[in-house]
Amino acid sequence: MAPVSTTNGVQLRDVSPSDLDTFFLHQTDDLANRMAAFTAEDPRDRGAFQRHWDQILSDNNSRKQTVVWRGTVAGYVTSFELFGKPSIAYWVGREFWGQGIATAAVKQFLRMLPEGPIFARVAADNLGSVRVLEKSGFKRAGVERSYASARRSEIEELIFRLGEV
Ligand SMILES: CC(C)(COP(=O)(O)OP(=O)(O)OC[C@H]1O[C@@H](n2cnc3c(N)ncnc32)[C@H](O)[C@@H]1OP(=O)(O)O)[C@@H](O)C(=O)NCCC(=O)NCCS
Repeated sequence: MAPVSTTNGVQLRDVSPSDLDTFFLHQTDDLANRMAAFTAEDPRDRGAFQRHWDQILSDNNSRKQTVVWRGTVAGYVTSFELFGKPSIAYWVGREFWGQGIATAAVKQFLRMLPEGPIFARVAADNLGSVRVLEKSGFKRAGVERSYASARRSEIEELIFRLGEV
């Protein structure tokens, strides 16, 4: 059986193909998309979503964990290379927001990653995500203007880093 780790009732475990329906449902939430901003071009395109996740699941350099809260799939945390840098991303379904789930999941996930700096990019006005990063020890390391699909415009994107380069 795959290992499961738990903090404050939040469990991380390997992603199973049957979790993808829930991740897709979360991805179709308009409010969450607006918040995350740098999202899939068409969040309702199930084929594109499936191709994206097939690639993540077959990438041995990417770590991916399903976030489970009280026995229910609440979201995911992943690590991958973005602009040549080890980076993380996460998404929690709206019905689970505001209970410290993302913070607990990210903290737990970081302990699974190899030593070295980790980066994360976030829309400057995604205050919840900024807090998740700050509470997990990330520090602001830069700012860029980037195109955000969910806003159909360029917006300010903050770059966060955990650890020294
Ligand atoms: C951002 C997200 C991961 C936060 O998940 P969560 O489980 O609600 O986060 P937590 O409960 O751990 O909250 C962490 C902190 O953020 C704050 N917070 C959460 N949502 C917030 C919001 N919408 N506005 C302001 N602060 C918010 C919490 O109050 C908490 O701070 P505090 O401890 O200082 O009070 C979740 O809303 C989400 O998945 N959104 C859609 C996808 C997304 O934006 N992913 C990140 C892309 S970079």
